[in-house]
Amino acid sequence: MLQVRNLHAFYGRAHILHGVSLDAGAGEVVALLGRNGAGKSTVLKAIMGLLPPAEGEVAFDGRRVERLPPYRIARLGLGYVPEERRIFTDLTVSENLEVGRQAARAGLPPWTEDKLFALFPNLAAMRERPGGRMSGGEQQMLTIARTLMGNPRCVLLDEPSEGLAPIIVEQMARSIRALKGEGLTVLLSEQNLHFSQAVADRAYIIEKGQIRFGGSMAELAADPSLREQYLSV
Ligand SMILES: Nc1ncnc2c1ncn2[C@@H]1O[C@H](COP(=O)(O)OP(=O)(O)O)[C@@H](O)[C@H]1O
Ligand SMILES: [Mg+2]
Repeated sequence: MLQVRNLHAFYGRAHILHGVSLDAGAGEVVALLGRNGAGKSTVLKAIMGLLPPAEGEVAFDGRRVERLPPYRIARLGLGYVPEERRIFTDLTVSENLEVGRQAARAGLPPWTEDKLFALFPNLAAMRERPGGRMSGGEQQMLTIARTLMGNPRCVLLDEPSEGLAPIIVEQMARSIRALKGEGLTVLLSEQNLHFSQAVADRAYIIEKGQIRFGGSMAELAADPSLREQYLSV
């Protein structure tokens, strides 16, 4: 579904990504793990076309997209949820969802409000609440739900568990597993190994803009030195 090869990206003259390669197969949940500043958000932005890569290839659903602008990549069915929540604080939950609505995609049942409320039960109880009067965790869920209204085939989630209360982290994990159940492909960035182990099929570790590990969650769990070297604070 998603193939990234030898990606290089710069902020100005600062060379941030040094030949990143990774894959996410259809229906897989893949975690991109790394410490703060490792390059996780930059990888997602480069895939999405928000930071056009200087070198390398990104194939989405069999099409090369590394030269396309973000809106065209989005239209192909790649959804993106940035680190900072971008809900409309003056709009209600229902209105926020409406903003994200896009045409259904061939071969996939379209998302409806009710289906999303089943996925994020907290949101169902606050349909008429303005976004600005929701907790951080609820806003995070709303941002993901709004992205799903665009009927993506694959979603990039930038640190979905960040800043969430433990009980909300649990719910977020359930929701992401449910996305997998719906057949979606998910590439998420995380610093939280525990959360990643609860949701992901495979993981990559990034450090200083380079992939240091790629493998199953079991392989990662079996190697404490990886955690020590690249993940612990
Ligand atoms: N807009 C920017 N301009 C310049 N440097 C940036 C910018 N955003 C991030 N960086 C740098 O790029 C590196 C990777 O950042 P980022 O991808 O945000 O890491 P992560 O998401 O893993 O915390 C860091 O060294 C960070 O300081
Ligand atoms: Mg980040």
